[in-house]
Amino acid sequence: MRLSRYFLPVLKETPAEAQIVSHRLMLRAGMIRQSSAGIYSWLPLGYKVLQKLEQIVHEEQQRAGHIPLLMPTLQSADLWRESGRYDDYGEEMLRITDRHGRDMLYGPTNEELITDIFRSYVNSYKDLPLTLYHIQWKFRDERRPRFGVMRGREFLMKDGYNFDLTKEAALHAYNRHLVTYLRTFERMGLQAIPMRADSGPIGGDDTHEFLVLAETGESEVFYDSAVTDLSFGDRAIDYDDVVQCQSIMEEFTTKYARTDETHDEALFNEIPEDRRRSARGIEVGQIFYFGTKYSEAMGATVVNDQQEQVPVHMGSHGIGVSRLIGAIIEASHDDNGIIWPEGVTPFHCGIVNLRQGDEAADAACEALYEQLTNAGLDPLYDDRNERAGGKFATMDLIGLPWRITVGPRGLKNGVVELTSRKTGESVEMAPEAAVARIIEIYT
Ligand SMILES: Nc1ncnc2c1ncn2[C@@H]1O[C@H](COP(=O)(O)OP(=O)(O)OP(=O)(O)O)[C@@H](O)[C@H]1O
Ligand SMILES: [Mg+2]
Repeated sequence: MRLSRYFLPVLKETPAEAQIVSHRLMLRAGMIRQSSAGIYSWLPLGYKVLQKLEQIVHEEQQRAGHIPLLMPTLQSADLWRESGRYDDYGEEMLRITDRHGRDMLYGPTNEELITDIFRSYVNSYKDLPLTLYHIQWKFRDERRPRFGVMRGREFLMKDGYNFDLTKEAALHAYNRHLVTYLRTFERMGLQAIPMRADSGPIGGDDTHEFLVLAETGESEVFYDSAVTDLSFGDRAIDYDDVVQCQSIMEEFTTKYARTDETHDEALFNEIPEDRRRSARGIEVGQIFYFGTKYSEAMGATVVNDQQEQVPVHMGSHGIGVSRLIGAIIEASHDDNGIIWPEGVTPFHCGIVNLRQGDEAADAACEALYEQLTNAGLDPLYDDRNERAGGKFATMDLIGLPWRITVGPRGLKNGVVELTSRKTGESVEMAPEAAVARIIEIYT
């Protein structure tokens, strides 16, 4: 993409309405625009990051054998009356009446809809296990939408649902999701700690929330500092391996880590004092096992090998895809702007032409642009007639991890400059070497 042809409405002023840094930076970098309270348009740069996150979520879910589908945003109230949640859910649910007077709602989650799909088609234990998921917009009429996409009213969620014959099988699905989430968040450059949590309106007894530590987080958390030393890394996982998934679950959830809802002071005090931490965190995901709560209420049964009709064991598993963008920025920025982790960056690198119109500089930039594009990468070339300072400020604000700076003076010596957004370090090298380096980083 050439910046002269892109739509990147950056703001010079710091927007007054934004209370936290990620919201400020998303507005300033032209990523989102509020349309009404808690409802946003995703401008091109923000949309690009959102798509990157969706892609990672899809890859990690499908790696574990989970199957994507797409359910609608608007649902019929009748299904929610079957589960009993139509009345229970309260004012967060946006209720709508269509022209025929039918009660509808904008889905805040999809347990009912997916259970209805399941019961309509699946009758035998032989079709289990099954995990279906989608990435779809949700609506919750939050009392206090705030912090930009962090607590929106309309937000993008990945929600997955497992259907299993037995509790043991469903607990394997739970562990399997925990493992996929660890990998997913690490690929996004985040440390998200699974913490024992409370189940809220979804119901059930087994649940973990994944929290990214951040001062601006809305959840109060308590943990053993040893959990922050754990990292998933590049492990080979067999997602059908019950023992392997179970042992990773134990590795990541045995040390004390809880949200305030389940915090237990006595247990916490058993941790050596120098490792006790209380902090704030952003909830980016949650997994639940809730047994037969919905399958019994809605008649989602299968025939087992004894020819008996039994309700299936279920769980649901959510990732806040749009909230994650805020969480990533909270975890990775400086005074000049965003610092994207390489796994989620909207463009792989920036190319800054210090002297637009200079024959040698223009030709060198075009060549870099072409080589990077041919290598399957997505560079952003700042080809505007603007001063160097302004170009650098824009690149720093939008946070691309790498920048290649091209100017007539360097070119006389056969070099361009490669700069890391994170460390600020610059190295001079031949243009071909810069291209090779960028390709190496991303493959
Ligand atoms: N209002 C919201 N705006 C953006 N993301 C949200 C919002 N509510 C929930 N999410 C995201 O969707 C994920 C799955 O939804 P879940 O039902 O677990 O949310 P929740 O526990 O009600 O969230 P919270 O406690 O923050 O209100 C959450 O982990 C979170 O990342
Ligand atoms: Mg939750």
